[in-house]
Amino acid sequence: MIGSTFIVVIVAVLVLPTLYAFHIGAPILCTPKSSIKRALEACGAVKGQKFYELGCGTGRNIIVASNEFGLNTIGLELSPILFLISKINLFLRNTTADVRMKNLYKTDLVAAEIVFCFLTPKAMAKLAPKFARELKSGTKIISYCFSLPGWQPKKIINTNNPGKIFIYEKA
Ligand SMILES: C[S@@+](CC[C@H](N)C(=O)[O-])C[C@H]1O[C@@H](n2cnc3c(N)ncnc32)[C@H](O)[C@@H]1O
Repeated sequence: MIGSTFIVVIVAVLVLPTLYAFHIGAPILCTPKSSIKRALEACGAVKGQKFYELGCGTGRNIIVASNEFGLNTIGLELSPILFLISKINLFLRNTTADVRMKNLYKTDLVAAEIVFCFLTPKAMAKLAPKFARELKSGTKIISYCFSLPGWQPKKIINTNNPGKIFIYEKA
């Protein structure tokens, strides 16, 4: 009885929200480390800039942004399982990046100076008007693999990994 109650609680608290995040945003797939580094170099990231990752998965990219580029980093992650893994990874890598268990569609991005995401074409279509509404002029948007409908990229980088990197700048 206690065993089955425990399983129901785990499924309700950890597994269902994770499946929901994968459904409304994207399932967990990781941007190669070389691509996040290349993207940050290409968009001219400067130490201290405010960097948001929309759907930060296991926290790999926010660790790079914080520890290797000195960015003021915030990762948003809706899946409680991935949020916990990110927290552990940040602790183990001794990073000052912040991770928040939040829905990226419902988080105000006005403070961002660089935004990174690796989601799906459907999610990018949903984000395009949010970026237009909320981001300040000059904010850089980096999307791994998928373009941002209705926006003209400033740069497209072909990588040896499967995905292209699209870089945009809010007018
Ligand atoms: C394709 S993975 C990318 C992970 C990481 N950004 C990377 O590039 O390695 C997409 C991530 O977005 C998260 N996600 C999906 N929808 C979300 C939402 N609405 N709010 C926050 N995170 C979301 C998923 O849980 C998943 O971790």
